[in-house]
Amino acid sequence: MVTKAEGVWLHTSEGARFLDAGGGAIVTNIGHGRPEIAQVAAEALSRLDYVVPVFATEARVALVEEVSDNWLPDPSWRCVFVSGGSESVDAAIRVAQLHHVASGRPERFKVIGRDISYHGATLGALSAGTHDRRRKGLEKALITMPKTSHYDPEQLEKVIEIEGPETISAFIGEPVIGAAAGAYVPPPDYWPRIAEICAKNEILLIADEVMTGFGRLGTAMGHAALNFTPDIIAAGKGLGGGYVPIGGVYCRPGVVEPIGNSDLALMFYTFAGHDMCCAVAGKVLEIVREEDLVSRADSMGQLLRERLNEEFSDHPNVDDVRGLGLLQGIGLVANRETGEPFPRSSAFGELVSSIALEKGVWIYPSGSGIFEDAVMFGPPFTVEEGHIDEMVTTTRQAIDTAVSQVS
Ligand SMILES: Cc1ncc(COP(=O)(O)O)c(C=O)c1O
Repeated sequence: MVTKAEGVWLHTSEGARFLDAGGGAIVTNIGHGRPEIAQVAAEALSRLDYVVPVFATEARVALVEEVSDNWLPDPSWRCVFVSGGSESVDAAIRVAQLHHVASGRPERFKVIGRDISYHGATLGALSAGTHDRRRKGLEKALITMPKTSHYDPEQLEKVIEIEGPETISAFIGEPVIGAAAGAYVPPPDYWPRIAEICAKNEILLIADEVMTGFGRLGTAMGHAALNFTPDIIAAGKGLGGGYVPIGGVYCRPGVVEPIGNSDLALMFYTFAGHDMCCAVAGKVLEIVREEDLVSRADSMGQLLRERLNEEFSDHPNVDDVRGLGLLQGIGLVANRETGEPFPRSSAFGELVSSIALEKGVWIYPSGSGIFEDAVMFGPPFTVEEGHIDEMVTTTRQAIDTAVSQVS
């Protein structure tokens, strides 16, 4: 039972504390327990409670300004807020579809996803993704969507040719693959080439920045670190820093203009852009900017990476240290030389994570498909060197203990 949270620490009812090296689910960008956030939430609720999403409120308008002025590719970009990551991906897919319908191209309805990906747990987001364990049992209820490679952009051209470019509305991908691959970073030319192929075929490029957005990779948004500009961004998690459930969809104006000029509407979710959530998210982003936490995510990310490299570069059960900024991961294998995985029945990534938790550190188990068994680190940007040492050392002990248990 978690009873209190402060900085990088979570405290339990039994008087123990553990280090939040996963930032929960890669969420808590500014750290836990900031009293000024609690104050903003209380003030917001004492002013307003529920206001239907079609009306403006001061906090909503201020958050649109904060996000478009400081975080998006251009201040002209348009924003709509939702309550989390899956909703943001679903709404991004709807925006892409409505864009084409409003532009007189209703035959463009397919969304191309990738062979290693996680976009959320609604049926639409699960359909766009491929995370096998999270889709298991639901396959028949999911929409069939074409998939392409997560590392070879030329495969996208082939998929477009097979499907017919005139049938495709959008391509969706995570700049750095989180839950499905434990922080996999594609080759440097991957994203610029994907952007080129999408533009050539009039396919909208959706960047799923639910994990990589709002500073996590050491840049304002993750696409900047990967050298491309999407048409639509879906992002949640760090926007509210874990203090409130909030996400959003952000588009260049040309994506939404045809919709605005038509009789089509992007139906809102009842709790979209809740006033108190917007007020808190605005304060979270102000703190990130005032404390220069995006630069800190970059510098502490480099330190974390160095420590991970030192500890694991020749570890027999680690095949890769990967990631960018404060989204770092390690791939776990039974045999480093051959790349042989642990049997799925051992649920090795989860085992490492639960042993680390017993030793006082929360790391995020992740991976799917060929990246089965990974753990991720996504601590608050306020993390300090001593915390990094503790999370890396504990992870090593957890891996070694897990190996001895499995063998
Ligand atoms: C890249 C990505 N997209 C979407 C989601 C879904 O977000 P949520 O769990 O907030 O619905 C996640 C969650 O881990 C994610 O990592």
